[in-house]
Amino acid sequence: MEYITLSNGVKMPMLGYGCFLISPEECERCVSDAIEVGYRGIDTAQAYYNEEGVGNAVSKAIAKGKVKREDLFLTTKVWIMNAGYENAKKSIEESLQKLKTDYIDLLLIHQAFNDYYGTWRAMEEAYKAGKVRAIGVSNFYPDRFMDLALFSEIKPMINQLETHVFQQHKDDRKYIEKYGAHIEAWAPFARGENGIFTNPVLYKIGAKYNKSAGQVALRFLIQSGIPVIPKSSHKERMAENLNVFDFQLSEEEKKAIEAFDQGKNIFMNHEDAAQIESFFARFGVK
Ligand SMILES: NC(=O)c1ccc[n+]([C@@H]2O[C@H](COP(=O)([O-])OP(=O)(O)OC[C@H]3O[C@@H](n4cnc5c(N)ncnc54)[C@H](OP(=O)(O)O)[C@@H]3O)[C@@H](O)[C@H]2O)c1
Repeated sequence: MEYITLSNGVKMPMLGYGCFLISPEECERCVSDAIEVGYRGIDTAQAYYNEEGVGNAVSKAIAKGKVKREDLFLTTKVWIMNAGYENAKKSIEESLQKLKTDYIDLLLIHQAFNDYYGTWRAMEEAYKAGKVRAIGVSNFYPDRFMDLALFSEIKPMINQLETHVFQQHKDDRKYIEKYGAHIEAWAPFARGENGIFTNPVLYKIGAKYNKSAGQVALRFLIQSGIPVIPKSSHKERMAENLNVFDFQLSEEEKKAIEAFDQGKNIFMNHEDAAQIESFFARFGVK
């Protein structure tokens, strides 16, 4: 495993296991399998409703001596409906309980909506109290990211963004890194969109190293210094997705993949009013 060092010195795995869209029941099995095949980073969120599944899998793996807590890197995220100082503070305690842990390795604000300044204060407090080892944000576009970074005591250490070969954040990245954070890639496979798993360029590059198109897509991000959190419910795919540390893309191959960049999100544009309105409506906010 390779690691990235956050601005406070904490080391985070370059590849972790993503838990989005995994049912609460299935999550324990998936995370147990992920730990078994060698994952040490686990990415969940209050809004995934599967923190308990993560907590069960992790605590059982630790009790059976399969892994040490200090070798795991647990990420969760404060949801929009838990925003604001008091609500966020309470929700952090709930996440700790559900995850069955004394500390969260990385705590993120899930979306830049509602009272995220209040949320940030609660997170800074949890960080100072040792309940959280690193804090950051997710889906913060450069304007909101810089606002929080410039006017807070502690600057976000991560900005988890939709990032894949079709959305590489070449420009945003400069500003995010300038103010102390690293980009982390959610949906590093673009959830299979645009035929990523059968893309002829990725496939051809992969054939040279005996790797799949998906492995090349992950390797590209990792080699660009972007940590990734691919999701799969299948154990054999979990193993495949983790097996990306024994080859190196050439400069020419990286350039060929850089050309895929469309510079925009596939799944959600947080600046599109109509999209945001229907997104909020799903949570009864109108
Ligand atoms: N911060 C945020 O707002 C945010 C938003 C979305 C996601 N995330 C995080 O990012 C993680 C990853 O993103 P994601 O789950 O949306 O998408 P993703 O990792 O890009 O893609 C997951 C999809 O790819 C399939 N897949 C995985 N490995 C494969 C392989 N080797 N061959 C073929 N298909 C494969 C999976 O199917 P199977 O499961 O059937 O294998 C699943 O349908 C999430 O789980 C979550 O932790 C964060």
